[in-house]
Amino acid sequence: MSATNFSTTTAATVSTTAPAATPTAATPTAATGIAPVLTAPPAPTAANSPALQAAIARGAIAILGTGSHAPKNIVTNDDLARQGIDTTDEWIRTRTGISSRHIGANGEATSDFATRAAQAALADAGLTPADIDLIIIATLTPDLPMPACATLVQQKLGARADIPCFDLNAACTGFLYALDTAWAMVASGRYKHALIAGAEKLSSILDWQDRNTCVLFGDGAGAAIIGATRARKSTFAGSHFSPLRAGTLPPEIIGVRLYCTPDTELLHIPVGGSLRPHTAGTYAQRQHYVQMKGKKIFKIAVREMERAAREILEQHNLTTNQIALVIPHQANRRIIDAIAKNLNYPPDRIFVNLDRYGNTSAASIPIALDEARRSGRVHPGDTTLFLAFGAGLTYGSALVRW
Ligand code: ACO
Repeated sequence: MSATNFSTTTAATVSTTAPAATPTAATPTAATGIAPVLTAPPAPTAANSPALQAAIARGAIAILGTGSHAPKNIVTNDDLARQGIDTTDEWIRTRTGISSRHIGANGEATSDFATRAAQAALADAGLTPADIDLIIIATLTPDLPMPACATLVQQKLGARADIPCFDLNAACTGFLYALDTAWAMVASGRYKHALIAGAEKLSSILDWQDRNTCVLFGDGAGAAIIGATRARKSTFAGSHFSPLRAGTLPPEIIGVRLYCTPDTELLHIPVGGSLRPHTAGTYAQRQHYVQMKGKKIFKIAVREMERAAREILEQHNLTTNQIALVIPHQANRRIIDAIAKNLNYPPDRIFVNLDRYGNTSAASIPIALDEARRSGRVHPGDTTLFLAFGAGLTYGSALVRW
């Protein structure tokens, strides 16, 4: 069975894509749909402005905009059962909380989702592709082994040709790794606006005969623009009073903590790299697909995301009472509930959308973040806590004030 054989039973399209901004830097050609890369960067006057330098000096680097995109094909749990997978809607919902997921079509790739998410994030930030001077794509499913997915996003966006573009693979923790990397690079003063995205077409690496894994994952992308704080009117943020708000403090990435505890066989794809290239035999044994020891991962995920939460809060002298919203990696509702219980954190202040997306790995947190902002769950002054966990085993946490 191929991932893209699935029929869609849900009539309505539930794409989270905001109206895509038209790249002003270059217009896609009708023939390819790909915009030519700019050859001449704009003069870097703004990058040297005293206001930006002052913002950088005081470390006020923030998320200036967010966007997300999911392919339009929605596959429900019942669709999976109808396609011959030995499962039921009841099993998937009660064990995971997932009801449906978006699955990309043949010919759609990770860079397509990332580009759409990036366009929405640029529109939210009030910027154009020409304003971006760094692109980082967190993914474990790049379009191709090479070149990097980030270079394809650069091309499709029509971004500048004189900027660094690279991929980063930290599995489901990828967005937090990209956030920390971009934050450091912008804080160095050498880059002004970074585009980061978590983007995946996980349906391309799933064994659609393995009910232990294929029901858990989905496709999509979320993006964010990282830059020095400046006055901006948020498109989404409401204005009602929240006692959790920090008052007059500016929007800022407060901190990121990243971890990796090597345990490389709990969740992996056994072949396809330099150690074990594909052979006819490995294809026959279906070793080019995701393999996972779900029960063990479940326990470690709860323990380590809880640790990542406690350590970052302690480091920044914050308590859970001061966190307006937790946006965790969307892997399993029971994992999220266990963390909330252990941290004694109210479940209604945890953002959950995995029922409609499944686990989208690196895209999980940025899609959830974008949905949370667009649905009015994030207000000026709020502090949000991100928690992630993934293959490696990587995990991490981040605190962001809005
Ligand atoms: N439909 C029906 N039955 C199933 C399915 C399915 N899709 N999948 C497994 N089962 C069966 C199993 O075969 C097993 O049957 P058996 O008792 O006859 O052997 C039974 O259900 C119970 O299986 P368990 O593994 O005990 O189920 P569990 O309650 O542990 O739930 C799950 C499994 C959902 C995978 C859970 O362990 C989990 O979510 N683990 C974490 C996975 C995860 O989050 N991975 C990604 C994290 S990192 C990243 O995001 C990349």
